[in-house]
Amino acid sequence: MPDADGIKEAKMFHCDMLQQTQGFFLKGSNSLDWGMKNRLSRIFNPVSGRTVMLAIDHGYFQGPTTGLERVDINILPLAPYADTLMLTRGILRSVIPPSASQAIVLRVSGGASILKELSNEEIAVDIEDSIRLNVCAMAVQVFIGGEFERQSIINMTKMVDIGNRYGIPTLAVTAVGKDMARDAKYFRLACRICAELGAHYIKTYYIDKGFETVTASCPVPIVMAGGKKIPELDALTMAYNAVQKGAAGVDMGRNIFQSKAPIAMIQAVRAVVHDNETPKKAFELYKALKNK
Ligand code: R5P
Repeated sequence: MPDADGIKEAKMFHCDMLQQTQGFFLKGSNSLDWGMKNRLSRIFNPVSGRTVMLAIDHGYFQGPTTGLERVDINILPLAPYADTLMLTRGILRSVIPPSASQAIVLRVSGGASILKELSNEEIAVDIEDSIRLNVCAMAVQVFIGGEFERQSIINMTKMVDIGNRYGIPTLAVTAVGKDMARDAKYFRLACRICAELGAHYIKTYYIDKGFETVTASCPVPIVMAGGKKIPELDALTMAYNAVQKGAAGVDMGRNIFQSKAPIAMIQAVRAVVHDNETPKKAFELYKALKNK
């Protein structure tokens, strides 16, 4: 039934108040479409502007990695503390409950194993499956300087094109081969190439010297990769330095799930990323939670 005419009309139109136009909180992302921004807002916390991604996709090229032998037992208890789970569709469908509220970043490149050349990847997931799984972003490995550099870059640009069509962001993961330099010059090159070619955000490694030049010269958000397991205080210090030098969060795996106390560690990482907690205080939090 239609409303009666004339009720509270002037009041409801708020003719004296202009509609606000808000900028989008993420670096370099203001011109994206609504669906893209909405998905990024599920990965990155709009209040802190940062994310704690829990990377558990290692099995796609190295099988049952230490700490990931039983994702149902070892990882599900950690999930509530992550903003985002980065994983494969196999683990997502077989182990992660569909009621999980974390944003999903789906690994969509693959095809190589630790027994062969790692950079020889292709796109390994159809866009329809990413849509079906309601993912918030698709992750593609990019091997700048690697043997299959061109192929991996084209994998990424193809996903950017397809993702743009459906409003799904692409995360470019800068992969570093065994013999590649790990310095600011290399990471500036790798991150900038990915951003120039359309990646919506980029995962890269932390380096002590010049990380701020890597984030400054990359026009889209960067998340810090965790890397091999190091002592908890060192990992918290690395995460702290990365966000203080411009990273929009972390995408950590082994330094969380291989910790002696993974649930305590992920909460300490959250404190560093979202609350700017110092490494010392975050480590104290880790120890206190570990002993509970
Ligand atoms: C990177 O190449 C893959 O996505 C890894 O499986 C994962 O991101 C590595 O995470 P982390 O180095 O923190 O264990």
